[in-house]
Amino acid sequence: MSGPNSEYDPVQVTPLEAVEVDRMRDDALAAIDAAADLAALKQVRQAHAGDRSPLALANREIGALPPAARKEAGLRVGQARGAVGQALAARQEVLEAAAEEQMLVEETVDVTLPWDRQARGARHPITTFSERIADVFVAMGWEVAEGPLIEAEWLNFDALNLGPDHPARTMQDTFWTEPAEDHVVLRTHTSPVQARTMLTRTPPIYVVCPGRVFRTDEYDATHSPVFHQVEGLVIDEGITMAHLRGSLDHMLQALFGPGITTRFRPSYFPFTEPSAEMDMVCFVCRGAAPAVDSCRTCRGEGWIELGGCGVVNPRVLTACGVDAERYTGFAFGFGIDRMLMFRHGIEDLRDLFEGDVRFTTAFGQEI
Ligand code: PHE
Repeated sequence: MSGPNSEYDPVQVTPLEAVEVDRMRDDALAAIDAAADLAALKQVRQAHAGDRSPLALANREIGALPPAARKEAGLRVGQARGAVGQALAARQEVLEAAAEEQMLVEETVDVTLPWDRQARGARHPITTFSERIADVFVAMGWEVAEGPLIEAEWLNFDALNLGPDHPARTMQDTFWTEPAEDHVVLRTHTSPVQARTMLTRTPPIYVVCPGRVFRTDEYDATHSPVFHQVEGLVIDEGITMAHLRGSLDHMLQALFGPGITTRFRPSYFPFTEPSAEMDMVCFVCRGAAPAVDSCRTCRGEGWIELGGCGVVNPRVLTACGVDAERYTGFAFGFGIDRMLMFRHGIEDLRDLFEGDVRFTTAFGQEI
């Protein structure tokens, strides 16, 4: 029977000798210190703290020692592994911070560098403002209607109670196309869209129609042979002038802000009866200008003229196939360019038509 192996001296188990363990630990610490980046540190971790690292292997030897020797060897190896683990964690933190720092440096964008790309154009303010006006009505459940710029004389005039000899035809200086027998014009207003709408739809009708119109006007600071109108047409049972007023007041408050008041002035249009010109109070001086005589926006008027409107003439309803006994309606036609000029303090109408991007870019934030 063999007795305890009293000859066995743990100090002689080479991997567990103090110098050996210290050397393994120092090797590991040196390698950790030398790891230049996270990838290198990963390898060092495997080599010096992984399952097959010298310290892990040494740890396994401990079990083979006689109990008396295990404690000391265990303490020594455990402390070495602990030191290595701490050094790894500390180095990991340092390298992660460095990696992040480097990323920030490498991915820095110099926002002050000169910009060499072609500037993008901006949508034209007439386009965005027309859409904005239409949106106000669409939000009330109206639809947007469209018509052609080159229009039949009958729709531009006759259907709207402007017969060939009607004196009001001369109110609108018309561009005629050739040959004259074709009876085709460049539409002088957006009102033919009223006729087109009534001819193709059945009431109730609630439409708004922004668009381009043409008249043989001089081209100056307040006139242009091409300009823009927004037409509105409502045909339903029991429609009165009050509905017209309410709808337009709502539109103007939506476009120019709360508190905008309006006034009707008696007027004449063959296609409406009664007819009115509508003005809105100047949104800058709020009507105070005539007293103080100083407002540049309304030029001291206190009011801004918007355009014509009225109750649809029953003769127009009949010409367009609408039962004038059953239905009534209202219509309006306002100048978009004028409204835009007032809204933005544009002094010269020509700025709107000359296509200078320095002008349109100032409106470029609108989408
Ligand atoms: N079409 C008219 C114009 O251009 C404006 C208008 C439209 C008036 C609708 C009444 C009703 O002057």
